[in-house]
Amino acid sequence: MGTHMKVTGKLRRLGQTDLEVGPLAYGLWRFVGRDIAAARARIEAALDAGMNLIDIAAVYGLDWGGNAFGESETLLGKVLADAPALRRRMVLATKFGIVPGIPYDSSNDAVVKSCEDSLTRLNTDVIDLFQVHRPDALTHPADLAETLARLRTQGKIREVGVSNFNARQTMLLQQFLAFPLATIQPEFSALAIEPVSDGVLDYAISRQMTPLAWSPLAGGRLAADSASRHTAEGERLNRVTAKLDEIAKRDGVSRVAVALAFVMRHPARPIPIVGTQNPERIMSANDALRINLSRADWYAIVVASQGAPLP
Ligand SMILES: NC(=O)c1ccc[n+]([C@@H]2O[C@H](COP(=O)([O-])OP(=O)(O)OC[C@H]3O[C@@H](n4cnc5c(N)ncnc54)[C@H](OP(=O)(O)O)[C@@H]3O)[C@@H](O)[C@H]2O)c1
Repeated sequence: MGTHMKVTGKLRRLGQTDLEVGPLAYGLWRFVGRDIAAARARIEAALDAGMNLIDIAAVYGLDWGGNAFGESETLLGKVLADAPALRRRMVLATKFGIVPGIPYDSSNDAVVKSCEDSLTRLNTDVIDLFQVHRPDALTHPADLAETLARLRTQGKIREVGVSNFNARQTMLLQQFLAFPLATIQPEFSALAIEPVSDGVLDYAISRQMTPLAWSPLAGGRLAADSASRHTAEGERLNRVTAKLDEIAKRDGVSRVAVALAFVMRHPARPIPIVGTQNPERIMSANDALRINLSRADWYAIVVASQGAPLP
């Protein structure tokens, strides 16, 4: 028997912090537009579904039809102004450090400005999780640690995480911080399996950090119908979706649920950040919580993804 059902919707601690989060998170990279009621409906659907960690970034708003840096945070801020009680239901996670045209800046002045601007746009007085969006090679980790520690002491942020950092970069920042980093956010999905072997998930285990998996459905590619894909990457995608479909059909679950369960099966207990803007799809992502993939199924997905057998 491969997939068996279990219920695991319980809250757990984010890293070693006192913040409590659900097993799935909700991401706002694609959160743009003027319709505040529709935006609010998505946030409420996610919170009702138990996805209480809401992941956003200062830079979100430049893609998917948005046209301004900060637009997604501004939209979330409008939702929070409209329905202030929602703020207490969420662990609000944003990011700093991407400045289009530079493109990375984690210097003290840039980080402090980004934090103040995010607080203003989000209509809130504290950011629960402040994440470095991408490493800035030109900022010494001791300087970044000092900036972050000061913002934390001032009460503007509660906890700190990193994104798109490798294990060594994370270790280096941690070395200069007097408090533990809470999270690490790599791209991780059945199509992006590197964190399993590049040390990121191992490091998360060793420091009790919670991994947050971005684009757990590979930005929708894992959910799409297999059309004509003749490139090498297309063939790889066909192999992975065929394996996910085989497991899903056998066990009577959806392919998307199996793809999310793949991410959650690792012992580092990654939290997939679901990115759909469709309230029904937000709710149905929870089907993944009833799946516990067998070892054989999990490794078969890895083999399909890497296109080579395991030794
Ligand atoms: N740290 C970073 O550098 C970084 C980078 C990228 C993303 N992220 C984070 O990760 C979050 C998720 O990324 P993502 O949006 O690429 O995630 P994803 O869940 O991999 O992909 C979401 C996309 O899949 C589509 N989709 C199609 N069928 C679906 C189904 N049945 N169920 C769910 N989705 C379906 C969605 O379209 P519909 O909306 O039409 O359903 C949406 O366009 C972001 O919001 C952001 O918070 C972080």
